[in-house]
Amino acid sequence: MTEKWDAIRARFPALRPRDDGRTPAYLDSACMSLVPQEVLDAMEEYYTDYPGCAGRSLHRFAEEVSHRFEAARDTFAKYLEASSPKGIVFVRNSTEAINVVGQGLRWKKGDRVLVSDQEHNSNLVLWQRLGPERGVRLDILRLRDDGTFDGDALETALARGVRLVSLFHTSNLDGRSLPVREITERAHDHGALVLFDGCQAAPHRQVHLDRDGVDFYAISAHKMLGPTGTGVLAGRPEALQQLRPLVAGGETVEWSTLTEHVLRPVPHRFEAGLQNYAGVLGAAVGVQFLQSAGLEEIEAHDRAINAHVTRELEGEPRLRRLGPADPAARPSVFAFALRGIDPHDAALFLDEGHGVMVRSGRHCVHSWYAERELDGNVRASFYLYTNMADADRLIAGVRELLERMPDAPTGTSAAKPAPVGPRAPSRRRAAGSSTAAARSAPPRGTKGRGRAGSAARSG
Ligand code: ALA
Repeated sequence: MTEKWDAIRARFPALRPRDDGRTPAYLDSACMSLVPQEVLDAMEEYYTDYPGCAGRSLHRFAEEVSHRFEAARDTFAKYLEASSPKGIVFVRNSTEAINVVGQGLRWKKGDRVLVSDQEHNSNLVLWQRLGPERGVRLDILRLRDDGTFDGDALETALARGVRLVSLFHTSNLDGRSLPVREITERAHDHGALVLFDGCQAAPHRQVHLDRDGVDFYAISAHKMLGPTGTGVLAGRPEALQQLRPLVAGGETVEWSTLTEHVLRPVPHRFEAGLQNYAGVLGAAVGVQFLQSAGLEEIEAHDRAINAHVTRELEGEPRLRRLGPADPAARPSVFAFALRGIDPHDAALFLDEGHGVMVRSGRHCVHSWYAERELDGNVRASFYLYTNMADADRLIAGVRELLERMPDAPTGTSAAKPAPVGPRAPSRRRAAGSSTAAARSAPPRGTKGRGRAGSAARSG
């Protein structure tokens, strides 16, 4: 079995050994996955062999790209088990997909949208904006910290008369998943539509859009081996039909006069202007790569790596894990805070000293941290090219960091600092004690790049 994963890993050029002789231990796939050679080849092939525009001209380049673009739609429909390729709209990312729905629904004043208290800004900021702009009310579903789902809380929220339930499928913060089928059934029983932000789920497990009756599903292909700036809004064609296209323009209409136009059917009415053909064709090859690796196998692979990391690190007294205790309930994510250590300092230490790349901060879920007065955390995320050696480097790096950095004085902790407001300066920038400690204790192999002061991130 290891041979299979080694062969898969070898297809990712970014994982080649670098100047320091080490391969990167890339544990940030929840932000963006790496791209296999097959995807790079598909994109290059478009530009070198048939660089035409789809759906317009009749020459051979255009015919070829038109055919392949529609075949890519079919690939995504099959991957997501959507009822029809007509329900696949190509967009830039899941944020744009959610905007196509949110800005496209014909809202009435007082309509309600229900989101959880753990949503990425991509599934929150838009709804906040629709309040003043269109009179849409935003309701919050509180999730349990242990990762179990509270169906009664959902029922109570739905009883208020919700128009759209918009939730993550898998959380980018702690890797937990929500029960799509149960939520969809309950929402439909109350006459609500459902939208799932599937960008952390679709890369790792089989999604059953048609079986589960999901109305809208948003994904980013750059988290599933595709290039940046590619994503999909998948939907039931009848549900998509209700939306007013977010962007108006070429290729969205059957006909136009100087005063009016007739829109094309779904999905073409949503794809205005020339599309990212190379990106979409590459993304489809990424999906085929995942299918040939096997989604069940990928999930089991993630789970085995996460179980190892969890087993090794859970016992560290200063480490606090986020999300469900069982790694099987968050297979691709191990998120943690280290008492007394700023998460950004930890991330820099792991990168510079151990070549381990993780994400630190609030992961674009600022609202969740603000509610809990937490200052962020570190997140390691795993994928099909992650191996046990990567996991061991993370474990060794965290242990070394804990040894080198003194514990926080009683009553303070990086995981629960003083309340933070919008734009609060990071503790590193504020020359906090952890920064000083990080600088005075350079990790093995650190070149002293001194990035600590410049790595402030919005999330
Ligand atoms: N949603 C991406 C992440 O969690 C950006 O890293």
